[in-house]
Amino acid sequence: MVMKDILVKLPKKDNSYRILLEPGLRAHLTSYLAELSLPAHLAVVTDTLVGRLYGQELLQTLSALGVKPLLLTVARGERSKSWATVARLARKMLAQGLGRQTLLLALGGGVVGDLTGFLASIFMRGVPFIQIPTTLLAMVDAAIGGKTAIDLPQGKNLLGTFHQPRVVLIDPEFLLTLPPEQRRNGLAELLKTALIRDAGLVELLASSGPALFQDKNLSDRPLLVELIFRAAAIKAAVVSADEKEGDLRRILNFGHTLGHALEQCSGYKLQHGEAVALGMAAALELSVQLSGLSRPEAQRGLALLRAFDLPLTPPRFSPEDIVNALKMDKKRQDDNLVFVLLKKLGEAVIQPQVPVSLITDWLNQEAEGGR
Ligand SMILES: NC(=O)c1ccc[n+]([C@@H]2O[C@H](COP(=O)([O-])OP(=O)(O)OC[C@H]3O[C@@H](n4cnc5c(N)ncnc54)[C@H](O)[C@@H]3O)[C@@H](O)[C@H]2O)c1
Repeated sequence: MVMKDILVKLPKKDNSYRILLEPGLRAHLTSYLAELSLPAHLAVVTDTLVGRLYGQELLQTLSALGVKPLLLTVARGERSKSWATVARLARKMLAQGLGRQTLLLALGGGVVGDLTGFLASIFMRGVPFIQIPTTLLAMVDAAIGGKTAIDLPQGKNLLGTFHQPRVVLIDPEFLLTLPPEQRRNGLAELLKTALIRDAGLVELLASSGPALFQDKNLSDRPLLVELIFRAAAIKAAVVSADEKEGDLRRILNFGHTLGHALEQCSGYKLQHGEAVALGMAAALELSVQLSGLSRPEAQRGLALLRAFDLPLTPPRFSPEDIVNALKMDKKRQDDNLVFVLLKKLGEAVIQPQVPVSLITDWLNQEAEGGR
């Protein structure tokens, strides 16, 4: 199958990079690395599960380059996006003699990608890194764009940098081992990307997406590649036009404003993809009320979420708690909230004045058990 290639073109020329996408790419990734004039040292950061599945295989592949990479493994899950982990990894690298001439490889989902990017941006005042995303969410979203972060007890992603990877290497076959709930997290982001920017992708997802993703073996590889490619290209285009989160990049937050609040109020029991899907369901309704989306289009959007088995009905939380969580959000402006809404399927707008009451109305109407 032909390799797909996307350029993330950034104003500072040195920061521009390519996203390469091909099933089975991991077996011959050294040819792409060799093009990058490799530094003396390589370190692969991964989590325990991805490391168990793919760590040794990657080390073996890399050995063809004549370097012996250091394997740095962190615990699975969000808790690894911490200062403690950054400090531990940096100390380990120093203990092994790794310095300024080091390239880091992030092998994993968004957690490993955010953590590795953050570490790369501050280790010795900055070393290069490469993203090798292994979750759908990281392939279509987290690995692209150069936002890095770790969490603090006060909240997620509170410390971070912009540090672009040198290249993003996507092998969709990593998804064969991804558990269904993680697949759904990525699907929510894939749907989001289509809804804000590409009516054609919405159509394609509606017509053939559910069958593809219900198939454990993801057998229709050309379709899988096409879907990831189109979503990654949209993220790349948005980032190229707006590297550091002005208005355009904010459209990527579609469904996330309310999604984050719901996630937080559930004590993170709601999966990220479920919370984002609920946020998108609310945003579709608000779009009918405020930004001219037609009712039939909103219904098509909801049907798409349903077709991917994503929830449309939020758990019953106190609306005040949700509103408080929303107001903590960075995007708050007085008693109105900034929301990303849709004008049409495939076209987003930033709506700066969304009355809080519209959200509480939606929550009251839609929450489990109804009013
Ligand atoms: N930087 C950005 O622009 C950006 C954008 C969106 C999300 N994020 C961040 O991404 C993180 C979420 O990323 P995620 O959803 O990829 O979660 P994750 O990295 O925690 O991965 C989810 C789980 O899947 C496992 N896994 C990964 N690849 C696998 C594979 N191929 N086979 C089997 N298991 C596999 C992991 O071990 C983990 O347990 C959050 O921290 C979020 O803040 C960042």
